[in-house]
Amino acid sequence: MSLPLLQIITGSTRPGRAGAAVASWFADHARTHGGFEVELVDLAEVDLPMFDEPNHPMTGNYVNEHTRRWSARVSRAQAYVLVTPEYNNGYPAVLKNALDYLNREWRHKAVGFVSYGGVSAGTRATGQLKQVVTTLRMVPVQDAVHIPFIAQHIGEDGTFQATDAVVASAKKLLDELLLVGTALLPLHAPVTPDDGS
Ligand SMILES: Cc1cc2nc3c(=O)[nH]c(=O)nc-3n(C[C@H](O)[C@H](O)[C@H](O)COP(=O)(O)O)c2cc1C
Repeated sequence: MSLPLLQIITGSTRPGRAGAAVASWFADHARTHGGFEVELVDLAEVDLPMFDEPNHPMTGNYVNEHTRRWSARVSRAQAYVLVTPEYNNGYPAVLKNALDYLNREWRHKAVGFVSYGGVSAGTRATGQLKQVVTTLRMVPVQDAVHIPFIAQHIGEDGTFQATDAVVASAKKLLDELLLVGTALLPLHAPVTPDDGS
């Protein structure tokens, strides 16, 4: 049987961001973990405009090609990890925009969080994101990676240097995501336009 696909979504897009290094580090861990097929999804590359669909995403009735592409990509995954910084006590607008574009594609799928920031380690961004993902009927796992003082953990070569505690939290997150994500598999349904809510 093939492994479930885990998409690791990089939630910051600005030049010089720490997010790319954190996401790349976590993807390496996820591949080593062995429970998932792993795909990095960089929202800077996905490059969605601000939400511009006329219909509620719940209908799956999309008029824009960029939305159809985003829908097809997200639909492929069985679980997600959102890699999020903390911006002004919350999460980046680009991440909310990417979530808002779709609806049933996310539904009943497990989601975990890798957050980073200053002293708060992105925990406030994560708390707010949980409200959003449960509204989309995603199932957040409690185990998470929270990285404080992110700037101190980016090496001269631009890679993320994890502490032992952070490495341990990544393993727990992946174990839990596999457990919950596998249990949810029977609930996943393909998204077709206009088949209700
Ligand atoms: C606009 C902005 C707002 C920020 N607000 C917070 C904040 O509220 N709490 C925090 O811990 N760090 C905050 N930071 C620091 C970021 O968490 C840190 O710069 C991080 O590297 C940003 O992620 P990125 O490099 O992937 O963009 C803020 C940074 C920016 C650019």
